Amino acid sequence: MDTQSREHSRKRLVMGNWKMHGNQAANTVLLDGLCAGVTAVPNCDVAVCVPFPYLGQANASLQGSGISWGAQDVSRHEQGAYTGEVAAAMLADFGCAWVLAGHSERRAMHGETDQLVADKAAAALSAGLTPVVCVGETLDEQEAGRTKDVISRQLAPVLALGASSLARIVLAYEPVWAIGTGLTATPDQAQEVHAFIRARLAELGVPQVRILYGGSVKASNAASLFAMPDIDGALVGGASLVAEEFLRIAAA
Ligand code: 13P
Repeated sequence: MDTQSREHSRKRLVMGNWKMHGNQAANTVLLDGLCAGVTAVPNCDVAVCVPFPYLGQANASLQGSGISWGAQDVSRHEQGAYTGEVAAAMLADFGCAWVLAGHSERRAMHGETDQLVADKAAAALSAGLTPVVCVGETLDEQEAGRTKDVISRQLAPVLALGASSLARIVLAYEPVWAIGTGLTATPDQAQEVHAFIRARLAELGVPQVRILYGGSVKASNAASLFAMPDIDGALVGGASLVAEEFLRIAAA
């Protein structure tokens, strides 16, 4: 498939990751702002991944808005004695369409392994959710020229899920050194990694999988990133907490 037809076959997706921010009052302002403004960005899928306690609020506020919602983590288990864990079916029960799997903060702070991340993606798929599997290298790994090795290692168990599963997931490339730092990969740097990931997907017959970029995406840099043929949207942290800024990214 050539670059142009690829671009046309994949609608852009801009997803907010609120991380551990918010409260009911602030969320109301943010969600109302998103609902009011989203009609101005019809050509982009818009979604938010909120903390678990606010899934009910998202479910109530975003019904019929055209904005979809999801969670930031999921258990690999279906149900049972797993205190503190949240099952994919519970997320589906709150209307979630998406769930992040393997965000770098979970890999780094909670020891999530590549295999666990793939297991979480599989659990999400079983419940009818779309997992957004995050990959990305640290600064040390990047400086050592190991970016593609790291991405390959992280992707291996996910790719092993097979083409029919892969066709139903989203990938997000989030270089760890660009998250929350104000440092963004240049469009060319990001494109190089996205093209690398795309090539791996193409080998498996699923070149159409959406690949988002994340790491200090803002309204001011979104357009240049989105101009790249293999960047299909963004996973946005800090800038997703202000409705106008987030929607400006979606409009870019
Ligand atoms: P920032 O946009 O705040 O850099 O966060 C990126 C991210 O981690 C999204 O998942």
